[in-house]
Amino acid sequence: MSDTTQSTQTSAAGRAGNPLWSSRLAFILAATGSAVGLGNIWKFPYITGENGGGAFVLVYLLCIALVGLPILIAEVMLGRRGRQSPIQTMATLARLDGRSPHWALLGWTGVLAGYLILSFYAVIGGWSMAYVAKAASGDFTGASSDTIGAMFGGLLSDPGTLMLWHSLFMLIVIAIVVRGLKSGMEKAINLLMPLLFLLLLVMVGYAMSTDGFGQAVTFLFLPDFSKLTTEAVLTALGHAFFTLSLASGAMMAYGSFLPKGYSLVSTAATIAIVDTVVALLAGLAIFPLVFANGLEPAAGPGLIFQTLPLAFSNMAFGTLFGTLFFTLLLVAAITSAISMLEPAVEWLEEKKGIGRLKGALLAGGSVWLLGITTVLSFNHWSGLYPLAFIPVFEGKTFFDVFDYLTANIMLPLGGLFMVTYAGWCMKPQALAQALELHPAVLFNSLRFVMRFIAPLLVIIVFINQLI
Ligand code: TRP
Repeated sequence: MSDTTQSTQTSAAGRAGNPLWSSRLAFILAATGSAVGLGNIWKFPYITGENGGGAFVLVYLLCIALVGLPILIAEVMLGRRGRQSPIQTMATLARLDGRSPHWALLGWTGVLAGYLILSFYAVIGGWSMAYVAKAASGDFTGASSDTIGAMFGGLLSDPGTLMLWHSLFMLIVIAIVVRGLKSGMEKAINLLMPLLFLLLLVMVGYAMSTDGFGQAVTFLFLPDFSKLTTEAVLTALGHAFFTLSLASGAMMAYGSFLPKGYSLVSTAATIAIVDTVVALLAGLAIFPLVFANGLEPAAGPGLIFQTLPLAFSNMAFGTLFGTLFFTLLLVAAITSAISMLEPAVEWLEEKKGIGRLKGALLAGGSVWLLGITTVLSFNHWSGLYPLAFIPVFEGKTFFDVFDYLTANIMLPLGGLFMVTYAGWCMKPQALAQALELHPAVLFNSLRFVMRFIAPLLVIIVFINQLI
């Protein structure tokens, strides 16, 4: 451990009246709550299905280990060193390190990314909510795959119902953010996360009893590189950022409450491992159902909503398990959504003197408004491609545009700059101190990854996509 009195000199003053996390575990739980969400259970399976399985999964795992993990360490480190909202943190640190004040821009783009993501995330969170209600009223019991497909189609085609759930989801998120990050969250995640994990195991257990399990394992873990496109590699990279809640300032904001004296490396590794295991379990729960029922792996964003109800339709206590599962998915989505709104609200509070209530209403309200474009992307505006004049956005609805713009462009770029800051703009001693690592093997290899491996991989994937 490094000398704490020494390291306080290089870190900005803590925020008045804002207590730190009560323990390392509390931080891990909150950060895991942010990381584990719809990204793991909804997005990972459907993009894996769309991108051909095994090879995509392998690239994704490599992206988590070689790019995601080092950037997670860097982002939490920056947050803990700055102890303010992401925008202020980057401004303060740049001053401390004698760098350009323009680094604050990184805080800005992050807040913007979180904002854009939340606008569609809340709509999908709304779908999960709708499915809690469907499961609880026994709608899945004995239903065939056609019925279940039609049920999902019916939901998407009804903007009024989608709006209702989207609004309710945003209201809950705003209400929690108003109360502040730490009150109640620790306890909720403490109980509900392990429960979600257990239920996923139950689902995998059920999936093993279907005759699609072998095919699913082959699909997920046997790489077929002929199916790997450059676009798929970018999607895998982008998803590594998305699923670890990187580059939007969320992890920076959470890191700003982390007390000194805890190992950032093992803390970040724990978060990344739990997050990855949850995603893989979700894949193992879903793809057997896809194959056993002759469904399409590349069905898109509706995949889990068209497959998991099939399990609940057949299994014992399906209504109970179904209700519980979608409730836990909803909780996971809420604990992630909170972390997208938090940086914006903190900034309004800190810089503009706007109270939490007003700030959360302002930021949350405008996200809600923007979310209406996603609601309409699945029905009235399904043929509306707002940025069709730009080649990469051709054929993309508002929802597709927000998804692509954030996951495939903004997050990788933001992460690239964060890790560049840690690797290139901080003096080695300052970095060692902020990471509380002695300049030995672990530190040197981590710094090497931060300087070369992670940034270069992001750049290569980008260039590859451009040509
Ligand atoms: N990681 C979350 C998930 O997988 C989503 C999320 C939360 C997020 N906060 C974020 C994504 C910040 C990007 C940026 O569902």
